[in-house]
Amino acid sequence: MAEARPGRIRLGPPDLLGDRTVVPVVAGRHHLVLVRDAGRIVAAERACPHEGADLSLGHCAGGRLRCPRHLASFDLHDGSVSPGWSFRALRLFPVEVEAGGLWLTLDGSLA
Ligand code: FES
Repeated sequence: MAEARPGRIRLGPPDLLGDRTVVPVVAGRHHLVLVRDAGRIVAAERACPHEGADLSLGHCAGGRLRCPRHLASFDLHDGSVSPGWSFRALRLFPVEVEAGGLWLTLDGSLA
C-alpha cells in the first residue's frame, strides 16, 4: 500500500505519463521532469545544467534525455553528459511506482 513517508513526495497517479515519455512536474518547490525509458521512470531536474533550457521539451530515446537547445544528451542512469561537453551531470532522482501513485524520494540535494 502506498503511503506518505518522510522524504517522499507523491507526484501523481501511476499513469501520470500516459503515452508520453517526458512530462514536467512540480515536487514541492522543485521543477522536475519525469522521464520514461524502457519501462523505467526517473525524475530529473528540469533546467539543463548547460544553459538552463527546459528539458520537458527534450526527447528521450535509448536511455538518454536530449536537450532541445544544443542537443547534448544525458544518460538516464547516472546523468552523465554526452561526449564533447564539459558541464556537470544532470541530477536524477529515483521514482517509485506503486498502486497509489508515483513517489519521488528526496535526497540531500532536493530536501
Ligand atoms: S542548454 Fe542544454 S545543452 Fe545547452
